Amino acid sequence: MKQSGKPVSRSGRFKEGPAADVAKFTESISYDRRLWQHDIVGSLAHAKMLQKIGILTKQELKEITSGLHQIGTQIHDGEFEWREDLEDVHMNIEHALTQIAPAGAKLHTGRSRNDQVALDMRLWMRDEMGEIAEEIRQLQRALVELGAKNEKVIIPGYTHLQRGQPVYFAHHLLAYVEMLERDFGRLQDAFQRVNVSPLGSGALAGSTLPLNRKFTAEFLEFKNADGEFALTRNSMDAVSDRDYIVEFCAFAALTAVHLSRLAEDLISWSSSEFDFVRLSDAYTTGSSLMPQKKNPDIAELTRGKSARVVGNLTSLLVLLKGLPMTYNRDLQEDKERLFDTVDTLRPCLRINAAMLRTAKVNAKRCKEAASDPLLLATDLADWLVLQGIPFRDAHHIVGEVVAVAEKRSIPIDKLSLKELKRIHPVFSADAKKVFHLETALAKRTMIGAPGTKPVSQELKRWMKLLAES
Ligand code: ARG
Repeated sequence: MKQSGKPVSRSGRFKEGPAADVAKFTESISYDRRLWQHDIVGSLAHAKMLQKIGILTKQELKEITSGLHQIGTQIHDGEFEWREDLEDVHMNIEHALTQIAPAGAKLHTGRSRNDQVALDMRLWMRDEMGEIAEEIRQLQRALVELGAKNEKVIIPGYTHLQRGQPVYFAHHLLAYVEMLERDFGRLQDAFQRVNVSPLGSGALAGSTLPLNRKFTAEFLEFKNADGEFALTRNSMDAVSDRDYIVEFCAFAALTAVHLSRLAEDLISWSSSEFDFVRLSDAYTTGSSLMPQKKNPDIAELTRGKSARVVGNLTSLLVLLKGLPMTYNRDLQEDKERLFDTVDTLRPCLRINAAMLRTAKVNAKRCKEAASDPLLLATDLADWLVLQGIPFRDAHHIVGEVVAVAEKRSIPIDKLSLKELKRIHPVFSADAKKVFHLETALAKRTMIGAPGTKPVSQELKRWMKLLAES
């Protein structure tokens, strides 16, 4: 639909139109048009309520409803002409409505763009948050499946990127499943504060009209955790704070940081130096010059894109920090930060899940790395503790064992009992049994440990939980 090109009257207050550059500078239509569906749904709810309280006749409501549906179809079909001089999605739709239905001029009764934009954002976020929750679940499933497929694979666990102690590969992956679970929880928690209706707050001070806020909240399904309708409780707060967006972006930043760390592991693991994981051709790229290269660009971009998500959170916090009550136009700047956050995070979640589903573990290489007996030096110290030696002394004794082996250029498990006894008389043949990798992992039985039993139990627990959710 082509909207009439003549400038919309700027209210009786203005004698002159805006200066030439103003529309370009102040518009948000280039990006907030994506709120159109939610803007229409919000307007339908508001109109229904206006009819209920006697401001609109049934006929007027019918006109408005059908006009809004018509506009929805035009937008959907790409036939709607968005006008920059109409500033934003709210004005564009309302203006188009008044052209179709004269009653459209009554739609804005008791409403301001200030509560309208807060409403649209909350409606839009609810939908996106639902999708993101499912995308987190998919990534968790991909991690658990890769772990389960390689349940017996052991790798070194690292601190300071130096080999530390052996762990099951699945245990390492499950660490990310745990991180994502907390992210999921933060998302659910933030959802409670998004899912509150600001409609009826007006510009900042509500309305003298008997608006029925409960009706619109129920119509739009704004509910608290107990399923009761949820309304913002202060009109000034409702139009001016964006903490629900900040909270969501904080969730997103942390999730992106977790993804970035996973990406870093995948980058290391797919290098020739580690060679623990082979990413499939479909999720790697070649080099324009070096023919042998297979680069982990997806993981690298995931790591890189996390910077934007963190930056968006920072921008929002800075945007809000000096604002006087209540609505200030600065707030329009929240949208691109939020949209970019969602548009960055969602593909990262999806593509990483897909990449993990096609990744292969190089079990042979993992075994070689995990067979380094130094990984069990701590187990040797634990053995000494069980012989009654204080841990500090045991730590020192094993340090000597390592030094002797290093000096002789042999692995520590190849030192003879005689050599061990020379370091400390308590050593017996039994001590050398600690170097059996599978036994060492079977001994780790506590909840949270990387042992054979707890890891297998955790894999089962996650598979069940993720199948049910
Ligand atoms: N485009 C505006 C925004 O995104 C809508 C609200 C405008 N309100 C106003 N008083 N100018 O924040």
